[in-house]
Amino acid sequence: ATEQGAESFERAIERDQRIEPRDWMPDAYRGTMVRQIAQHAHSEIIGMQPEGAWITRAPSLRRKAILLAKVQDEAGHGLYLYSAAETLGADRADLTDKLISGRQKYSSIFNYPTLTFADVGVIGWLVDGAAICNQVPLCRTSYGPYARAMIRICKEESFHQRQGYELLMTMMRGTPEQREMVQDAVDRWWWPSLMMFGPPDAESANTAQSMAWKIKRHTNDELRQRFVDMTVPQAEALGVRLPDPELRWNPERGHHDFGEVDWAEFRRVVGGGGPCNAERIAVRRAAHEEGAWVREAAAAYAAKQAARRDA
Ligand code: 3HC
Repeated sequence: ATEQGAESFERAIERDQRIEPRDWMPDAYRGTMVRQIAQHAHSEIIGMQPEGAWITRAPSLRRKAILLAKVQDEAGHGLYLYSAAETLGADRADLTDKLISGRQKYSSIFNYPTLTFADVGVIGWLVDGAAICNQVPLCRTSYGPYARAMIRICKEESFHQRQGYELLMTMMRGTPEQREMVQDAVDRWWWPSLMMFGPPDAESANTAQSMAWKIKRHTNDELRQRFVDMTVPQAEALGVRLPDPELRWNPERGHHDFGEVDWAEFRRVVGGGGPCNAERIAVRRAAHEEGAWVREAAAAYAAKQAARRDA
């Protein structure tokens, strides 16, 4: 079966066909898919914290309602992705343990603080904008359940990005203090947003294999470049300056040249040394422990329902 399985797996990948849960797949493919999908799910759930901090402090009912909807969407994205990981045999409780104990990662971007309400707009514009750049190609990733989860997530992500950009447009038409708040948030979130795409291709342990298995359709550097090219005109329309003195259009390349990302900061934040890492994990751990009774109640109710059905 393995011989035959391996052949049909290779053929399916070659033909851009989806790999489905019951298909044979190399253990390493299963392993890297669980790794990426689980960490993507963890990112969505942890990502609820920075924005969630502003739900009770939103400046109007409209902004509060939009932010509430967005944070709820992130929770839903996490659930779709944990479900996709479960189709590979992963156990959701185990994945949560791995997140809380630091044995699995989540996106470095969520380890920065949200200091003013302008951060909510900049997260929508830049962080969700970067996520869209990264997630649209993932709609064509070779693993079926992951690709299908991405298709729905991308639809909701575009609302996230648009509401952020509209919030910033409103503030840029406001007082000088509001315009300064926006520029200050852009200065703090620009470089961490570029780090969301991962290390340079030359230092990426997983990219080559992920490209060969069509898990990734573009490399980290290609998507980072695409994000920069897409964002520069948006920054100009908004009237903000991106904090990179080397950023300029290069007609020969047909792309923007930009400065070097601070990879020491990237490694430090991924390694747990960012401004909010400890807090994000502590809040996630507390939510898990305080929520144990809800899980037990749901399990008891399900058992009772099952017993009634079988009676
Ligand atoms: N933060 C934390 N860890 C990161 C990272 C980041 N920004 N970038 C890379 N890493 C980790 C990788 O996970 C890998 O570690 P691991 O082997 O222990 O998993 C290591 O650094 C080397 O990076 P690689 O490039 O070799 O790893 P990948 O091939 O997995 O590429 C990735 C990294 C581009 C993030 C890829 O995993 C990916 O596309 N993941 C799916 C998208 C995702 O997770 N996005 C999170 C953004 S937040 C989000 O989408 C929520 C939205 O609502 C804002």
